[in-house]
Amino acid sequence: MAFRWKNTLTSDDVTPYAAYLNRRQLMAGAAAGAIAGAMPMASRAQDALEPNTWEEITSYNNYYEFGTGKDDPARNAHRLTIDPWTVRIDGLVDKPGDYSFADILSQMTVEERIYRFRCVEAWSMVIPWNGFELADLLDWVGVQSSARYVAFETAMRPEEMPGLASPVLDWPYVEGLRLDEAMHPLTMMATGIYGRDIPKQNGAPMRLVVPWKYGFKSIKSIVRISLVEEEPPASWNVTNPREYGFYSNVNPNVDHPRWSQATERRIGGGLFAKRQPTLMFNGYEEDVASLYDGMDLSEFI
Ligand code: MTE
Repeated sequence: MAFRWKNTLTSDDVTPYAAYLNRRQLMAGAAAGAIAGAMPMASRAQDALEPNTWEEITSYNNYYEFGTGKDDPARNAHRLTIDPWTVRIDGLVDKPGDYSFADILSQMTVEERIYRFRCVEAWSMVIPWNGFELADLLDWVGVQSSARYVAFETAMRPEEMPGLASPVLDWPYVEGLRLDEAMHPLTMMATGIYGRDIPKQNGAPMRLVVPWKYGFKSIKSIVRISLVEEEPPASWNVTNPREYGFYSNVNPNVDHPRWSQATERRIGGGLFAKRQPTLMFNGYEEDVASLYDGMDLSEFI
């Protein structure tokens, strides 16, 4: 990896919930702040970010396993059992196995990252995540040289997830990344928000966050990670390939067939707030554009 991306903002910037931060997370935040001075890359787009409130982030959600209404996940996700939680890591890895979430966490460095989050439905938030780099997890299990993609799968528990009764998607929810996208230092596994454990409606105990892609790539409550050779299925792409591509990079110049992607509505901005221009790769262009050199982004949506 040519560089290690660190956020310039630390837990001090999100004071309302600083009281909830445990010592470990505070220390990780301080370390990230110290390194940031020497790491100018990627942080420019972060400078003026004002995070959404805890209430906004945890009450306006998409998690169709718990219903398709924006407030269904907050109402229903309490049914999800997350302790114990096991993640199967398999396929083209040196150390395949069933790993407990606690074991994974004990091996990872948790830090805070304040990222833009842009849903394909054209709303957005700014979220102070806590989590670790997916690359660290993949390095820990050892990726074999033939692996080209990473496939992810969400838990599928009809008794806990009332939304599974509806055929809106082919369950379980699945997603995928190309290996270089998965290994990119911006790509993280989120385990917290505002220094607290990530709420169930946001994808407890661990969910993917890929800040330059539409939100549906950021799959929640992951139970399986597989290293594979071929492009894996992705739920929305399978359901409607014309409207949702495998890549799904945020791109203001390529409209959704049914609406413009040029602007976005910031959640919490109030009823009369002006829509904001959507940024190429959601503001992370300098960091990630090179991943797509030579690709026609209106074709590879
Ligand atoms: N993951 C699963 N398993 N099920 C879902 O319905 N929705 C996706 C993504 N991950 C979804 C999911 C979509 S469309 C978005 S915009 C984000 O989660 C929403 O994340 P948030 O509720 O934490 O803001």
